[in-house]
Amino acid sequence: MGDTNVKKQNWDVKETELFLEILKELDMKKCLDGRKVRNNKLFKVAHRRMTAAGYHRSVDQLKIRWKVLKSAYYKCKRQPQSNPSCRIQGWWRYEKTMIAIMESRRPLVGSVVHTDRNDEIKTDPEMDSQLRIGFIGAGNMAYGIAKGILCGDVLPIHIKVSAPSSRNFGRFQELGIAVTHSNSELVCGSDLIFVAVKPHLIPDVLREIAHHVTQKHIIVSIAAGVTLATLEELLPENSVIIRLMPNLPCLLQEGAVLFSRGSQAKPEDGALLRSLLEHCGLVEEGPESWIDVHTGLSGSGVAFVYLFAEALAEGAVKMGMPSALAHSIASQTILGAGRLLRDSGKHPAQLRSEVCTPGGTTIYGLHTLEQGGVRAAAMSAVETATERARELGQKSAAAGCRN
Ligand SMILES: NC(=O)c1ccc[n+]([C@@H]2O[C@H](COP(=O)([O-])OP(=O)(O)OC[C@H]3O[C@@H](n4cnc5c(N)ncnc54)[C@H](OP(=O)(O)O)[C@@H]3O)[C@@H](O)[C@H]2O)c1
Repeated sequence: MGDTNVKKQNWDVKETELFLEILKELDMKKCLDGRKVRNNKLFKVAHRRMTAAGYHRSVDQLKIRWKVLKSAYYKCKRQPQSNPSCRIQGWWRYEKTMIAIMESRRPLVGSVVHTDRNDEIKTDPEMDSQLRIGFIGAGNMAYGIAKGILCGDVLPIHIKVSAPSSRNFGRFQELGIAVTHSNSELVCGSDLIFVAVKPHLIPDVLREIAHHVTQKHIIVSIAAGVTLATLEELLPENSVIIRLMPNLPCLLQEGAVLFSRGSQAKPEDGALLRSLLEHCGLVEEGPESWIDVHTGLSGSGVAFVYLFAEALAEGAVKMGMPSALAHSIASQTILGAGRLLRDSGKHPAQLRSEVCTPGGTTIYGLHTLEQGGVRAAAMSAVETATERARELGQKSAAAGCRN
């Protein structure tokens, strides 16, 4: 939308509140560090989300609004008793969110965090503020997660990667990350370790590092199908273990990640992991039984969406569109629909009904999809993929115990 269409009237309360919530979620702290490029990127994302929610402001208008809000915040800090009229109109409604944005320090990487008091996250000054992160395995998933972590506050010099061969090291080294062939050396020099090898290698790798693992380490396994019980059995008693399930779009920092804490992992360990991974995409915590569901929904779900994209494109090819164009339009349609679904926060049924004109094209097409049983097939696909993940988990638990 061009600037000519940008609405000129004053910001209302709802719009300002939405804007602040978006900035809070996007980690506005970055806007305070003076790095213009990063700030611009952030405002562009905010602009897209505001537009998706129906508020058409330009990026510059958003920046100006933020400046005004920031000035009001500083004014209130300097003169808490000042006359409210000299502050922004209706300031009291925004004050809490502004304070959350300006004063919340995300659980600083490297610090132990406490989440027990009113959701407030405090850092522990006693702890080393430089968390050292290790990756055992230099594959695609380790690379995607490392890139996401580097988008936050972690410096590359605080990350190390290990693998038997050097073939995957180059791309980590390009990011400034140190590499080693020794898993033991990596564990001894790290506080939080992602175990990112193929599931069948987990027993060997964990036995190799077990005598270096202490209760100060946090071990995060991303191996599909390897349960917390198996991990706890393979590592020393009282080890702090988290099982994490990423999905393929983590490679582009658009992942959907679910993690479960082992018996010794505290909520603050989960909070630390969540803050580390916040740039990898959506990060949620849940009971371990949900991990297999997440595998069916999101791990395998990515492939279900690809199948749907392929089918959409083939429909267009059938109707005469060149294949390359049909595929690029299908992928953009899925991307756009996905972003709108995520950013609007609306239920898919609501968005779907908003596209349906009575007697129009979409309702005809939807009827055909329903006749074809797409909804039931998608539900069954998640169900069977979940069941298969459970089955594989049980097999790998049995194999882990046997080895
Ligand atoms: N890919 C996904 O979509 C996805 C989704 C969810 C979960 N996961 C899980 O993520 C894990 C990694 O998957 P990936 O796709 O990243 O695998 P990958 O690309 O095949 O990478 C595996 C890495 O492990 C290294 N490795 C092998 N043996 C090792 C050992 N003994 N010690 C240290 N490193 C060793 C390999 O070393 P070299 O570089 O020398 O070969 C390689 O760098 C798997 O457990 C998988 O279940 C993957």
